[in-house]
Amino acid sequence: MKIFLDTANVAEIREVADWGILDGVTTNPSLVSKEGRSFDDILHEIVRIVSGPVSAEVVAEAADEMVEQGVRLAALAPNIVVKIPMTIEGLKALRRLSEKEIATNCTLVFNATQGLLAAKAGASFVSPFLGRLDDIGHNGMDLIGQLVTIFDNYALDTEVLAASIRSPLHVVDAALHGADACTMPFKVLQSIVRHPLTDLGNAAFTRDWQKLTPAQRAAAVVQA
Ligand code: G3P
Repeated sequence: MKIFLDTANVAEIREVADWGILDGVTTNPSLVSKEGRSFDDILHEIVRIVSGPVSAEVVAEAADEMVEQGVRLAALAPNIVVKIPMTIEGLKALRRLSEKEIATNCTLVFNATQGLLAAKAGASFVSPFLGRLDDIGHNGMDLIGQLVTIFDNYALDTEVLAASIRSPLHVVDAALHGADACTMPFKVLQSIVRHPLTDLGNAAFTRDWQKLTPAQRAAAVVQA
């Protein structure tokens, strides 16, 4: 499963890129607005750090305008993926952008039929929002499995991108259900790296190593 960071914060992206596990980035207008900077400037910096897919969302309601914004965003870098909301106008825009061979991510997907229509319109990714389904008492994770099965049944190339991830368990479930990619906030990614037993074990190894004299340490290191 590809790991994407769901943020418009360049410092977070730079940090995780350094970990060597970052496959891509997703942004949305709410995340961009938190940064208080120009969207173009943010995108230019992100694509210099990340070579994988970088989702950038349009902020229009009519298909013509979405396509116009999408074409402009896609021209910023070859790895920009144009994020389009799941509406009727959005479907039209997905079809037109896919005919121009521009990669797209259909966002705000809350049921399997929406995902199927987005895939038929040529979306490269669909983004089911798990956390927001859980918020209203639905099991968001079932949707991932349904989309994976449906795309598999019909050999659709569209990738399932698990989004609105709120906890480490969401990440595990997305992987178990076969999501192609999972996008998560920095704090969730940090929390899936750490485990208290790893920290305790590491501290014990360091403590025991420090009990040795310098001569014992030198002798214990395997000589080349
Ligand atoms: O990738 C979509 C994501 O940004 C939405 O997350 O937590 O606002 O539901 P959230």
